[in-house]
Amino acid sequence: MSFRLQPAAPARPNRCQLFGPGSRPALFAKMAASAADVINLDLEDSVAPGDKDAARAGIIAAISEVDWGNKYLSVRINGLDTPWWYRDVVDLLEQAGERLDQIMIPKVGCAADVYAVDALVTAVETAKGRSKKISFEVIIESAAGIAHVEEIAASSPRLQAMSLGAADFAASMGMQTTGIGGTQENYFMVREGDRYWSDPWHWAQAAIVAACRTHGVLPVDGPFGDFSDDEGFRAQALRSATLGMVGKWAIHPKQIALANEVFTPSEDAVAEAREILAAMEEAKTRGEGATVYKGRLVDIASIKQAEVIVRQSELIAG
Ligand code: COA
Ligand code: MG
Repeated sequence: MSFRLQPAAPARPNRCQLFGPGSRPALFAKMAASAADVINLDLEDSVAPGDKDAARAGIIAAISEVDWGNKYLSVRINGLDTPWWYRDVVDLLEQAGERLDQIMIPKVGCAADVYAVDALVTAVETAKGRSKKISFEVIIESAAGIAHVEEIAASSPRLQAMSLGAADFAASMGMQTTGIGGTQENYFMVREGDRYWSDPWHWAQAAIVAACRTHGVLPVDGPFGDFSDDEGFRAQALRSATLGMVGKWAIHPKQIALANEVFTPSEDAVAEAREILAAMEEAKTRGEGATVYKGRLVDIASIKQAEVIVRQSELIAG
């Protein structure tokens, strides 16, 4: 371990981020009433170019008018390669009420992208005397984004979360697929005539988790496009949770319960983690750093593993 301690990620539940197009204001109240921890009102790719101005105005009004309860409220702005993003930032920061928590920056390719938005946000916040500092989340969804993932994770003290955006990522990487996340038919190995499917998202997810954990940012799995495939969603989410991610997007309300289920540690997992902590406490009184729990080794590292599960469960319980 480096003598520099790993910073803690923000202590708030982020099991499910529910998206809705900013151009469908009829969905906003339904989103607010959902069981998602984070709400993402979208100005980017679910809004047609001709609807950008109306969607922006509608979101600004809804931020104050809708009762968002205890949701973490985020707006996805347009990318820095568009003519819309500066107006998104300026209007949101100048006109939206203090209820707005976060801005999501899509297609981030380097730390300077975040710096540019930070500079603009900081100027407007100061000019307008906003008392609450807006936080950031970013999407890694390009070759440049994954190549520069660590500098992006370290880019701003405002940064709280980082998601993998599978669709744009696949396009930018030149991947031969039109699927949004999940199993890819053509990504398999063959042994004795049988096919064994592998996970093409694994390496990018692991790179994101490592960058995020190094810099105290929440790693999040992005969209799963086929909202009729519950089993596929659950399998993708379980892999993400096992790798260290804390949550996943929902692009349809039926995915919310699935994400909450996977990213809430089960009662059995929490009970076992507490038993491991108790076993290690007992070992300590005997002056031992390692002991046996249900026939397997547990040692001082096991305490930290068990604490991850217990802490996550306590955080969710509030
Ligand atoms: N948030 C909250 N409620 C939603 C919703 C959302 N994102 N999407 C649909 N609903 C509601 C519908 O209004 C409907 O409500 P009702 O039962 O009161 O009539 C119900 O859930 C069922 O919706 P359904 O008819 O199955 O979906 P749809 O055809 O209206 O919309 C999508 C399907 C995929 C177009 C829509 O869910 C959507 O726009 N998702 C988000 C897309 C997005 O933001 N993409 C950007 C990030 S990748
Ligand atoms: Mg995208």
